[in-house]
Amino acid sequence: MQLTLRTMLLFLWEKAPLQTLLLLSVFLLILAQYLQRRRQHLNYPPGPSGLSRVGYFKMDFKNNHTVLQKFFREYGNIFCTYAGNRTFVMVSGLPLIKEVLVNQDQVFIDRPELPIISHVFKTFGLVMSNGQDWKQQRRFALMTLRNFGLGKKTLEDRIREETRYLTEAIEEEKGQPFDPHFQINNAVSNIICSITFGHRFDYHDSQFREMLKTLDDIMLLQARWECQLFNIVPGIMKFLPGPHQRSFREWKKLESFVKHVIKQHKEDLNPDETRDFIDAYLKEMSKENIHSSFHEENLVFCTLDLFLAGTETTSTTLRWALLYMALYPEIQGKIQAEIDRVVGQSRQPTMADKENMPYTNAAIHEVQRMGNIIPFNVPRVATVDTTVAGYHVPKGSILFTNLTALNRDPNEWATPETFNPEHFLENGQFKKREAFLPFSIGKRVCLGEQLARTELFLFLTCLLQKFKFQAPPNTQLTPNIRYSATLSPASYQICALSRVM
Ligand code: HEM
Ligand SMILES: *[C@@H]1O[C@H](CO)[C@@H](O)[C@H](O)[C@H]1NC(C)=O
Repeated sequence: MQLTLRTMLLFLWEKAPLQTLLLLSVFLLILAQYLQRRRQHLNYPPGPSGLSRVGYFKMDFKNNHTVLQKFFREYGNIFCTYAGNRTFVMVSGLPLIKEVLVNQDQVFIDRPELPIISHVFKTFGLVMSNGQDWKQQRRFALMTLRNFGLGKKTLEDRIREETRYLTEAIEEEKGQPFDPHFQINNAVSNIICSITFGHRFDYHDSQFREMLKTLDDIMLLQARWECQLFNIVPGIMKFLPGPHQRSFREWKKLESFVKHVIKQHKEDLNPDETRDFIDAYLKEMSKENIHSSFHEENLVFCTLDLFLAGTETTSTTLRWALLYMALYPEIQGKIQAEIDRVVGQSRQPTMADKENMPYTNAAIHEVQRMGNIIPFNVPRVATVDTTVAGYHVPKGSILFTNLTALNRDPNEWATPETFNPEHFLENGQFKKREAFLPFSIGKRVCLGEQLARTELFLFLTCLLQKFKFQAPPNTQLTPNIRYSATLSPASYQICALSRVM
């Protein structure tokens, strides 16, 4: 029976994917209509109903924000929508975002099950795990990151050493146009790799290049509508070919890379020396504890999570930074003037310089605000029935917080659509802004925030100390977006002119 259903679906999919999709949509719509009727007596947040919901799907798959924009205007700071039997709640505006992520942090502490991810990670890792397991893993990861140099001199040294490699690689471009994507990706990744795997990878290491390419492919595949549809009807989609299947194959590559590294660590584990995160984890595993979530499968996925989260986000932010530097040469000039004044050319910048460099610090914050790389935050789920802004939000609702709206809120920013470091300055001093939440907030706040901030400051100041970034001759750069799991800049070419005479 299952086989015939599968064959039929495959046949439909291959002969007429669009018609099959329409058929599926109609089915979902009828289901949603039925569920809606059951919800009507409850005080749910407002949201689109009937046919306009098809518009929601269309928007989500194509990453076209316009349809949602209309809903947003219509429904205000909280609205909900349904897909299949799931309720999605979207919250906007600083007061409500703080209400759900801070005041109700216990209610929204868990991640929802997203089939496209849980198909690979099951319930393991740091980012998507829940409950006691998540608590144990998060505490351990934070402690281990700290032991391997977070907030200490050693980590700064690692990053400064890496910037020397990066500077050399960029010098090899000799001021000619080049796409900095790969070098930046590798340099950033090397920091988390040296913490988790115990060493960095040479920029010419073809196997590691392949891993970074795989990671990038996965990020791009996540934005495809087939992967979104997998989240809604995994039972059907798992029988159908498409980019979701490719993403699973790519995940396998990363998984076996990590497994290989773990195997090597097990072979040369030294009881007297803990070299890195994997060593620390292996030692934790050997402790007797039957309720422990520390086992080899979890080690694989925690390592993968750190590798992933530690590479993609920071590297994307740095690529936005270089692009904005080239787009706003005066701002770049002011940062360089500050570097020359505070650091000079004879030594590398350090974290201790940061407090004397308010302009640079403000510009980095502004890159993160404009870059807006995680537009709807990482989703949470309501663990119990709750009330938000007077509306009933049932247990199981998937919560998104609209960070785009926060980053572009005209009530918070003087020039919301324009790159302007003054947003974070007051009388020449750095000014913290409450509406700046790229790392989110609350108990599940980004685990790598401090690491990311250190990397962003050191990489950017070291690069701007040595190079002036500008558009290639006769080329107009534009801040176009590439839609993937994060919002990254569309690939661009840039020239890095040496500043050192
Ligand atoms: C510019 C760089 C970064 C940005 C913008 C960023 C942003 C975020 C955001 C928005 C979340 C979701 C938090 C929430 O649900 O409230 C998150 C979670 C996370 N981030 Fe980052 N992140 C960055 C860098 C890093 C780095 C370098 C690491 C490496 C250690 C990292 C590791 C994680 C992990 C493990 C989580 C999951 C935490 C949990 O669920 O408990 N991130 N990040
Ligand atoms: C998020 O906020 C932006 C900016 O206000 C808006 O254009 C967009 O429609 C909102 N998205 C959702 C899903 O609410």
